[in-house]
Amino acid sequence: MAKIKTIGILTSGGDAPGMNAAIRAVTRAGIYNGFDIKAIYRGYDGLITNDIRPFTTENVSGIIGQGGTILKTARSKEFATEEGRKKAHDNLAAAGIDALVVIGGNGSLTGAMKFAQEFDICCIGLPGTIDNDLYGTDNTIGYDTTMNTIVECVDRIRDTAQSHERIFFVEVMGRDAGFLAQNSAIASGAEAAIIPEDSTDVDQLARFMERGIRKSKRSCIVIVSESPKCGAMYYADRVRKEFPDYDVRVSILGHLQRGGRPSARDRILASRTGVGAIEAIMQGQRNIMVGVRNNEVAYVPLSEAIRSDKPFDRKLIKVLDELSI
Ligand code: F6P
Repeated sequence: MAKIKTIGILTSGGDAPGMNAAIRAVTRAGIYNGFDIKAIYRGYDGLITNDIRPFTTENVSGIIGQGGTILKTARSKEFATEEGRKKAHDNLAAAGIDALVVIGGNGSLTGAMKFAQEFDICCIGLPGTIDNDLYGTDNTIGYDTTMNTIVECVDRIRDTAQSHERIFFVEVMGRDAGFLAQNSAIASGAEAAIIPEDSTDVDQLARFMERGIRKSKRSCIVIVSESPKCGAMYYADRVRKEFPDYDVRVSILGHLQRGGRPSARDRILASRTGVGAIEAIMQGQRNIMVGVRNNEVAYVPLSEAIRSDKPFDRKLIKVLDELSI
């Protein structure tokens, strides 16, 4: 295997708070250890359009506390095609990049895995997504900040919910994963969470209404995982129809959940995994994601990281149920 001299770095998919801290960590640790760093703008699209620029430590000064990603990001349709990946590889080779660090979520790391397999290039993933749905890391970069943002919003919604004695359905992000919904429900003292992982129960709403949520409380908050078919609007409409005397409102938090300054935890996770990525490259590791498990930096093959079955601790459902009486 040829010696790695130049490392490319990109962010891809939905932005997540802490991505900048990760860019900074990879750049600084890379330069500290004698590598050249090249930044690729707009995710995989930038590889295809050849938007590649050399990076120095100055490029990453003062960014640790900024939300979003200074490298911009995209969900590249072209990179999903063989032709697109070939173009990307040609540009990568012309820029002299021998290893690629990809900061992103499930789709982005799937792209990295395919690319690594097709062109025999060293790809290292960092778990950058608010969804926390990557296997092999306890938390993903951005998850903690987003959870705190949701909790702050729900605290505010509770003030108005209690004042008007209303039922609020608050929709949060998470794509197909309920980590954000379940844990933010616990942390904000919500009465229930409706999550994809609980799909064994055909009708989560019926179960929750049967428990007589309004026997002891005049207002309540239900956190709902986003879903194209049965998001917060769907449940609110049903309650309006089935319980016409309830005063129901919906609040879809949307993209405000992805913005904002990263929490200390996300900055530390990004810094540790960024340094871990450079260590992995120096050890000759390839095609892995760097995560943190049980407070230790851990390497997991990309093929495992993208598995859709990140374990969901079902005891969290019990915790919320018991505490919401
Ligand atoms: O993957 C991160 C995420 O925020 C998901 O939770 C959400 O489903 C999706 O991205 C939204 O994507 P977009 O910003 O493209 O609408």
